[in-house]
This record gives sequence, C-alpha cells and structure tokens, in this order.
Amino acid sequence: MGRKPPIEAAQTDLPKTDRRKLLLGMGVAAGSALTSVAIADRASAMGDTQVTDAPASHQADVDQRVPFYGIHQAGIVTPRPAAGMLVSLDVIADTPADFDRMLRLLTQRIVFLTQGGTPPAFDPKLPPSDSGILGPVIHPENLTITVGLGDSLFETRPWLKHLKPRHLQRMAQFRNDALVADLCHGDISLQFCANTADTNIHALRDILKNMPEYLVPRWKQEGRVPTILPKPDGTVESARNFLGFRDGSANPHSGNAALMNEIVWVSEAHAEPDWAFGGTYQAVRIIRNFVERWDRTPLAEQERIVGRMKMSGAPMGGTAETDVPDYSKDPDGKRTRLDAHIRLANPRTPETQKNLILRRPFNYSNGITKNGQLDQGLLFIAYQADLERGFITVQTRLDGEPLEEYIKPIGGGYFFVLPGARDAGDYLGRKLVEAAAAGPPTRS
Ligand code: HEM
Repeated sequence: MGRKPPIEAAQTDLPKTDRRKLLLGMGVAAGSALTSVAIADRASAMGDTQVTDAPASHQADVDQRVPFYGIHQAGIVTPRPAAGMLVSLDVIADTPADFDRMLRLLTQRIVFLTQGGTPPAFDPKLPPSDSGILGPVIHPENLTITVGLGDSLFETRPWLKHLKPRHLQRMAQFRNDALVADLCHGDISLQFCANTADTNIHALRDILKNMPEYLVPRWKQEGRVPTILPKPDGTVESARNFLGFRDGSANPHSGNAALMNEIVWVSEAHAEPDWAFGGTYQAVRIIRNFVERWDRTPLAEQERIVGRMKMSGAPMGGTAETDVPDYSKDPDGKRTRLDAHIRLANPRTPETQKNLILRRPFNYSNGITKNGQLDQGLLFIAYQADLERGFITVQTRLDGEPLEEYIKPIGGGYFFVLPGARDAGDYLGRKLVEAAAAGPPTRS
C-alpha cells in the first residue's frame, strides 16, 4: 500500500475550523484501514492545539435540533442530552395583557435559541444583541427549553387563580427534607437541556437579557449526565448517578406514545382546565448525596439499599439491567429488601401501576460545603399527569427508606408544564391567557 501524504501537511494551509472538520472526519474513518495513519497524525496535529481551544468532542452534534412546535413541549419525552439546568424565576406581570406579552416574547426567544441562527448585528454604540459566548452563529446543540408554571404564579394573581391546575400546590416538606428557602418554589420554571452546559448558560443569559421587565431569577441548579458510547451490539446503557448506580433502568419507555399518554400527559381524562391539555406536572428536587459516607459503605449494603446490582444494574439475583424483578416470588424481601429504594418506589402491583412517573434527572456537583464535604447530588426531575398520584405518592412511600441516611433533599418545587405551541401562529400558554382575559365563569 502506498504511503498517504501526512494529513498534517494538508492541514497547515487550512483555517483552524476546517482543520477541526478534517480531524472529525478522521474520527468517522476510525474503523477503516486509515486508523493507524489517523492516530499517528492526530498525535502530530496535537502540537497545533491549545489548552483553551474549545473541546472538539461535541462538535459533530452542534446542528442536532429538537423541533419546537407540537402538542407537547420538547424536553420531556425527548432524549436527555448531557447537560441540564433548572432555573426558577419570579414573574412580573400584573395583568393578563402583561402576561400575554411575556409569554409571546419567551416563546420567540425559545424558538430562536432552540432552532439556531445568527443574532442581528447592532450599532457598536449599543450593547450587542447576543452575549457572544457561543460565537457569531447560534447552533441548536440539541437545546430544549421547557416552561412550567408554579403555584405562586396563580395564587398571587386573582385573574389567574381560578385557572390553576387541580393538583398544583406549593411543595411541602417531606420527612427527610431540609429545604432551604432560597432554593425552593418560584412562579415559573425553565428546564434547559443541551449537549453542552455552555449552550444552556447562553440560552439563560439571552432570556434574562431580553426579558428583564418580566423575569427575575430565583434559584438555579445545573447538572449533567455522563456520555457513554453504545455497546458494540448497539444497545445503550442507562447513565450512572453520583452513587455509582445506573439511574433510569426501570423508567417507563418514553418512546411509547400510548404509555406517555397514560403516565405523563394531561388529557380530557384528568378533569383539568381545558387550557392544560397536553401539559404535565413537573416535580423538581435538589437532593444532596452524602458521597463520602456512601463511598465508605460496603458494596453489598449499597446494593441492598437500592435493590439493584451496582455494576450491571440488574435487579437483585438478575443478570441484565433489563431484567424485571418479580416481587410476588419474594414476599419476605429475602432477595430484594422490602424497604429497598426500587421496591418502595415501585412495588409493581396492579394498584401501584397508576403511580408510575417519568424521571429525567441530572447529576450535580457544586463545590465544597462549609464543613469540607463534596456538595454533590441529584437534580431530580419527574413528569406525571397527576402530581398526587405520581411524585407525591411515590415520595411518601419512600419516606423512611434506608437510602435517607445518604441523601438530603434541600430544594425544588412543583410546576405545571404548559402544553406545546402548535405552529408559528401559536405561542406557549396562549389558551391560558385567553381564558384569563375572559375572566372567571359567571355563576348562574
Ligand atoms: C438522590 C436520590 C435518588 C437516587 C440516588 C436514586 C437512585 C435510583 C436508582 C439507582 C434506581 C434504580 C435504577 C432505575 O430504575 O432507575 C432508582 C429507581 C427509581 N427511583 Fe430513585 N433515586 C433517588 C431519588 C428518587 C426520588 C426522589 C424518587 C421519587 C419520589 C425516585 C423514584 C424512583 C423510581 C420510581 C424508580 C424505579 C423503580 C422501579 O420501577 O423499579 N427516586 N432510583
């Protein structure tokens, strides 16, 4: 075989971005006969890179785009990318007309940020239209921004109060909670999910810059999930949380539309206000993990507490993550303890079928606490068509579980996620605003 010209030589005449594309192309060719040449030349190309160059690992994904318009908002059943961020904000809107303007503007920003484009150039005497942190062109990067409304939004506005979803309420303290006031509740939640944390931060800054008269941020929690390559046979494993266990193994299949209609989406079957059809309840919890204590706990005990095997993710006694535990054959908890996390969370009986929830969590790592411990945990986010039957019932069953010795919920809130905007003539929350403007129903 004739020797190929060194790729480095070809690269030197190319602008930096084109060299990157070439390197990414090399990645695609990695399975071919080019592999050894590519590896050798990647080493020589390293000499041209700098510590502060943007990481290349996600560049192939910059144009991944999640459609915005639809019956439901994106970011709930759509696949979870690597970076997540939940921001709670208070809303300044004293009239239905204010609220209408706020929702239209928010929709407009979300469409631009999630679909991508070039921000307009302004006169340099003015502040630039964009923060610039993603460069001159905004690529969608798989971004979704999902909007939910909190209990306080309805309770503090007489023109909205009668339209509050039936189960929406202020999150109450559970037995093991140590809720920090500054990390709880809010008028509105924005869930950002994207391939990179920078995309989420950019989107948040864009919204805050464009909507200062309507939105005041209250608290925010960023998180991420490890990216894992699919196995050689194409199967994908669930990502692990900061306790080292796979998280999501028994999550209801989000690709099953009929199941999602049953578990996640509010419909005519739920006796909710008409404007809410197509929406869902969002339960958010910031849950500290005492990772130092966990890391000193014997493996067998960790597995008993969770009810699954740490490395494989299989239920106790099983071999694969996809194995389904049969608790009817284990009534005394000899195999899976009766108080194991997964058994309490989902006892798998016909009566508890209605309590299923869709989890979409991210791991967080915030720094060091005042007493010198790692401040890590789970940004737990769950969706369900009925908050009482879903999260509240499941969390009540979990109260007192052995896992509590290692976790401490410190923040979060409940929100009602608006139905989707149908098309370019629609906007998020339109039906709610129309109902608010029409006023409360008159008594006959
Ligand atoms: C830091 C806190 C938590 C950790 C570390 C954690 C960890 C886990 C792990 C490792 C699993 C097994 C794998 C899986 O099926 O996903 C699991 C399952 C589950 N967890 Fe959690 N979890 C936490 C909080 C919660 C909370 C707050 C809820 C709801 C109130 C919850 C509900 C569930 C449910 C419903 C399952 C699936 C059980 C099944 O269907 O078999 N988890 N969790």
